[in-house]
Amino acid sequence: MEKTRDHFSSQLGVFLTVVGAAVGLGNFWRFPYMVGMHGGAAYIIMYLLFAMVLCMPIMFSEFVLGRRSQRNVFGTFKVLAPGTGWWGIGILSVAVSLCILFFYCVVGGWTIEYAYQSIRGFSSDVQVLENNFSTFVASPVRPIVCHLLFLGMSAVIVVGGIKKGIEKSCKILMPLLLLMVILLAIRALFLPGSMEGVIFLFKPDFSKITAETVLAALGQTFFSLSLGMGVMITYASYTKRETNIVKMSANTCLSAVAFSVLAGLAVMPAVFAFGISPTEGSGLAFITLPRIFAQLPFGSALAFIFFIGLLVAAVTSAISSIEVVAAYFTEELKWTRRTSIVIVFIVVAIFGSLSALSMGVLKDVTLFGKGFFDLFDYLASNILLPIGGLLVVIFTGWVIKKAVVKEELSSGGRYRVPFFGAIMFIVKFVAPVAISLIFLSSLGLIKLF
Ligand code: PHE
Repeated sequence: MEKTRDHFSSQLGVFLTVVGAAVGLGNFWRFPYMVGMHGGAAYIIMYLLFAMVLCMPIMFSEFVLGRRSQRNVFGTFKVLAPGTGWWGIGILSVAVSLCILFFYCVVGGWTIEYAYQSIRGFSSDVQVLENNFSTFVASPVRPIVCHLLFLGMSAVIVVGGIKKGIEKSCKILMPLLLLMVILLAIRALFLPGSMEGVIFLFKPDFSKITAETVLAALGQTFFSLSLGMGVMITYASYTKRETNIVKMSANTCLSAVAFSVLAGLAVMPAVFAFGISPTEGSGLAFITLPRIFAQLPFGSALAFIFFIGLLVAAVTSAISSIEVVAAYFTEELKWTRRTSIVIVFIVVAIFGSLSALSMGVLKDVTLFGKGFFDLFDYLASNILLPIGGLLVVIFTGWVIKKAVVKEELSSGGRYRVPFFGAIMFIVKFVAPVAISLIFLSSLGLIKLF
């Protein structure tokens, strides 16, 4: 199997690709406004804690499974637990990946439109900006065109394969992204009055921690580290034996967290410097920030950098989800890579368009009280992701042998595995309980605290 499959070519390449999958709109668009809405530093501390303590072992688990099987996510469970029904996790992961693409690519399209708009410059009038955003998302044409453009760009990269498409593009795009965020953060920090934003980000007010904050932070950590959707399993299956899984996963978690904090630093100080309330919600990136950029010298250039940054972050994540589905089609259904990706393109184009239209013409078409966009988001983030994550840790903790986990984590004894006992304890007990709790409470079935 190892010989016929494409593999990553270098350690740096795997690392940048995996970080590319993890760092996405979740870090740049969602994280800053979640921090704003949930009281700043206290929320960040929770996010850090969940990422390091709970989610890192889950990421180890996904790496162990994928690297061991050297297969797509469905094949992984078939190979590791033959003759059982665990392959269901594989199907679930393929479904979650698709479902995420159905709304993610729409927001990816928005970043293209806004990068374009930033060249012309934004108005500094809130009313104009709000109208601009709501008219744009409700239009039946532009969001769909942008969405298809975004999807097309991502699909073309995946057609190139693991080494020449995915790894190569992440190797170029991720350092570029880091540079862009650092530049934006430095600019924001030099604005008069920016210190208040920094204090908001780093001085915790623990009275702000409520059950809702805890749950929001946990859900955010899961989504932003791309866990529970088969992405890490699939990418891990393209890594070689020599890859140190523990180091790779730990560095990925740290980098994703660092990107989130940097994104916070690029946004919050500017929000405070302009005396805007940080609790703006999801309009932060598309309404509040353009208003700030409009008032800054070289604002158009900064806005352009910001939206291209968002686009880069989104593309490197979208390709990971497309790869999950494409790897399944090529290895299990024996379709060619090109055909597989064309099929993914068509399916996402159709459902993504429904999502895009659900803010305009299809506004009144709802299921369970939600339009298509919200429905896909809710279904993926609040239901399928936690179930996927839960099943993965149960599988790693209880179904496969401990010796196998140890062997993979240490790459066949090559590397030392620090805290193996603690990792297994989290995988077996802490993670399943914690994930079950978030899941049940996000469905409103139990009330924590
Ligand atoms: N981690 C990604 C993010 O933060 C989530 C994601 C992964 C989205 C894969 C799409 C595909 O944006």
